[in-house]
Amino acid sequence: MVSAGIAGGTGYTAGELIWLLLQHPAVELRFVHSRSQAGKAVSSVHTDLMGETDLQFSSELSAVEVLFLCLPHGKAREFLAEQSIAPGTRIIDLSHDHRLGNSGFVYGLPELNKEAIRHSRQVANPGCFATALQLALLPLARERRLQGEVHVQAITGATGAGAGLSDTTHFSWRSNNLSVYKAFGHQHLGEIKQSLQQLDSDFAQEINFIPLRGNFARGIFASLYTEIDLSLEQAMQLYKSFYADAPFVQVTTDDISLKEVVNTNRCFLQLQKHGKKLLILSAIDNLLKGASGQAVQNMNLMLGLDESTGLQLKPIRY
Ligand SMILES: NC(=O)c1ccc[n+]([C@@H]2O[C@H](COP(=O)([O-])OP(=O)(O)OC[C@H]3O[C@@H](n4cnc5c(N)ncnc54)[C@H](OP(=O)(O)O)[C@@H]3O)[C@@H](O)[C@H]2O)c1
Repeated sequence: MVSAGIAGGTGYTAGELIWLLLQHPAVELRFVHSRSQAGKAVSSVHTDLMGETDLQFSSELSAVEVLFLCLPHGKAREFLAEQSIAPGTRIIDLSHDHRLGNSGFVYGLPELNKEAIRHSRQVANPGCFATALQLALLPLARERRLQGEVHVQAITGATGAGAGLSDTTHFSWRSNNLSVYKAFGHQHLGEIKQSLQQLDSDFAQEINFIPLRGNFARGIFASLYTEIDLSLEQAMQLYKSFYADAPFVQVTTDDISLKEVVNTNRCFLQLQKHGKKLLILSAIDNLLKGASGQAVQNMNLMLGLDESTGLQLKPIRY
């Protein structure tokens, strides 16, 4: 069994990850580190784990083969600098801290960087919006078909903002409500452009991204469109071929909806053609394909396992 540990243990992504690692056939979860809850039962915070584990949150790290960082932006880098982590430990960082530039981490989007992830010891797991939007655009970038502006609206559930309380995650505000935030300036645009330029070094188009807060708990549903000189059939062929080796991405012309992917590590992509415009709809679970599921997918690749190991999850459709 491969030993694993988690830092940032009381948050939402950690909660999902603990569950996935406890079920994983090749992993033993050795510790869940917490600044705030050390000594308490993990199931006293992640109450859905009652009866599943006797683990307690720890204040110390022990030596493990894989360390997951489920820490806020800016805190993962700090954590690595403060803790003495055995050289050779595989690290998967779910925060933003190592996603851009020459950080020494491989950008952990398996549909883009599978071989590099397999040979890496440090992986920067992508952002949740970034995952949904990149999976919708990468096939076009590889063929250098992104020649016009890209227009994007994407709506996220409240868990995307983490477990901490804030005005915009307060039930009285979020319930029966809808709002836009960070229009044209969302922090995930950097990693999206970086990946598109990895496939098409000339890519320089605007990505006009309007993020929305939805009044549901989890999931991201994105709609993207751009003008493109391809028929629907040609576009379908291009997407199917790009994702031929991607077990979690499904491409279709049938209508998709959020409930088909929530609680799974899958991404559903739907294509439509309207005149010159190609419309791409993309749906993921922000906490799974957008975070902890993708982190396990990356771990599987790093360990030489089938990337789907421990990730055969069922959506709650009704
Ligand atoms: N939520 C999502 O959908 C999602 C998707 C993709 C990526 N991410 C990224 O993944 C990381 C974790 O996200 P999350 O949603 O799990 O966050 P979260 O629910 O806010 O949890 C973060 C945890 O980090 C720990 N922590 C350590 N130092 C901290 C500090 N100085 N301030 C606040 N918390 C601190 C806390 O746990 P302890 O008290 O137990 O130490 C806290 O529970 C973030 O970088 C986030 O951006 C999140």
